[in-house]
Amino acid sequence: MSAYENPNYVRVFDTTLRDGEQSPGASMNLDEKLRIAQILEEMGVDIIEAGFPIASEGDFRAVNEIAKLLTEPVVCGLARATRADIERAAEAIKPAKRGRIHTFISTSPLHMKHKLQMDAEQVHEAVVESVSFARRFTDDVEWSCEDGSRTDADFMCRCVESAIEAGATTINIPDTVGYAMPDEFAGMIAMLFNRVPNIDKAIVSVHCHNDLGMAVANSIAAVKAGARQVECTINGLGERAGNAALEEIVMGIRTRPDNLPFTTGVRTEAITKASRLVSTVTGFVVQPNKAIVGANAFAHEAGIHQDGMLKNAQTYEIMTPESVGLSASKIVLGKHSGRHAFREKLRELGYDLGDNAIQSAFKRFKDLADVKKEIFDDDLIALVDDEVVRTNDRLQIVSLEILCGTKHRPPEAELELEIDGEVKTCKATGDGPVDASFNCVKQLFPHRARLQLYQVHAVTQGTDAQAEVTVRLAEEGKTVNGQGADTDTMVASVKAYVNALNKLLVKREKTAPVALSI
Ligand code: KIV
Ligand code: ZN
Repeated sequence: MSAYENPNYVRVFDTTLRDGEQSPGASMNLDEKLRIAQILEEMGVDIIEAGFPIASEGDFRAVNEIAKLLTEPVVCGLARATRADIERAAEAIKPAKRGRIHTFISTSPLHMKHKLQMDAEQVHEAVVESVSFARRFTDDVEWSCEDGSRTDADFMCRCVESAIEAGATTINIPDTVGYAMPDEFAGMIAMLFNRVPNIDKAIVSVHCHNDLGMAVANSIAAVKAGARQVECTINGLGERAGNAALEEIVMGIRTRPDNLPFTTGVRTEAITKASRLVSTVTGFVVQPNKAIVGANAFAHEAGIHQDGMLKNAQTYEIMTPESVGLSASKIVLGKHSGRHAFREKLRELGYDLGDNAIQSAFKRFKDLADVKKEIFDDDLIALVDDEVVRTNDRLQIVSLEILCGTKHRPPEAELELEIDGEVKTCKATGDGPVDASFNCVKQLFPHRARLQLYQVHAVTQGTDAQAEVTVRLAEEGKTVNGQGADTDTMVASVKAYVNALNKLLVKREKTAPVALSI
């Protein structure tokens, strides 16, 4: 029996690359989206919403490239209820083995009046027209009633019935503003099953935002009421307070089969890797006490808990760290480890690098082993991520010297930067060492980008830990996140700054989807 024939199979629809990316500051470039899409595929996600093709060239390209690359999941593109949007989405998903068009329109009185300036009849007509039009391009059409949780019940039933009649195969009910409570949201889903005569012809889906912290609870309540698709994002990334967190829904289902007799196709062991990648790429740090993927989610500090854990892990642990792909951070390699062991360890961590990338990563590993006695899994992940983000950069750091401390006021930085093959040097001062080195970069490569975020995170414990730095820059409506890792925090900072500038240089023209009044 295929998974989809199982009436209790819940389809996982990941929208990290679309709704997640709409989160201010969380922009990702094509390479980063492809890496995330590959992990989602590896994880066994059923549907990947890869972007909003009409929003920008970059979004179109991301959906199109992901559609070419992936073979397992359905690749989906979002479209408003207009022919132009739907044609663009159809074009983007064309190469997909299985492609979906997801079209939506607001149905709540508030949105229809103020946002759309349409009456209910016009919206209903647009539902039928948009779904029928989308069906010309694919058999897999999802229809969403935006602001569903604040929509009049009779009107929702009428639109859902018409959307199915017009050919929608998935009906998605969004709690767009995160307003619903679990019992009433479940009631809304149950109502569709009771009142819409053709509801059995479609899969009912839910899409919950987290404004009141209810996104996961609402999604689970909806599944109990009959929904068989949940829309969610890694780390709960998304607009405002975010979307329902994929890892929480999936682990809830896996951990509580007694209460939730459902299954998903997600290989939960890939969760930690996906969470780290999304956090690194976006610069959105996961709070330490976040369920499933927070740094403390499996830490047991209290003496009484540790005592219980030693006697029987189940005393305080309802899931194993291994079930989400978290292995105890081990010392993995040392100064004397060879290239073969290094390559094997990277494979084990899920990185399959080409020969050139391995060569350069191995050299950096040796340099790291010279300054840091113990190299952990997390060190290698940071090192390889750092390697991957720097490929094809036009600006490269050659050297950095900094004078600072109580006797060196103001702090002074000297930087050698290679710009398109030409090495340039500069000295600058600043309010602190980071400011001084960033001033050097600005002198050597003048630009108008504004610094929106500077964030330092220690990869492992101890004073010899590598620093992982995120720098967010914004220029003319475009936002990029640069990353850098090094045992020297200043070097990591300049790497992150230069990486962000490199990304700005290649940044696609991206109109913020907000401008399209999603
Ligand atoms: O939150 C929302 O309503 C959406 C729709 C486009 C599904 O993201
Ligand atoms: Zn949404």
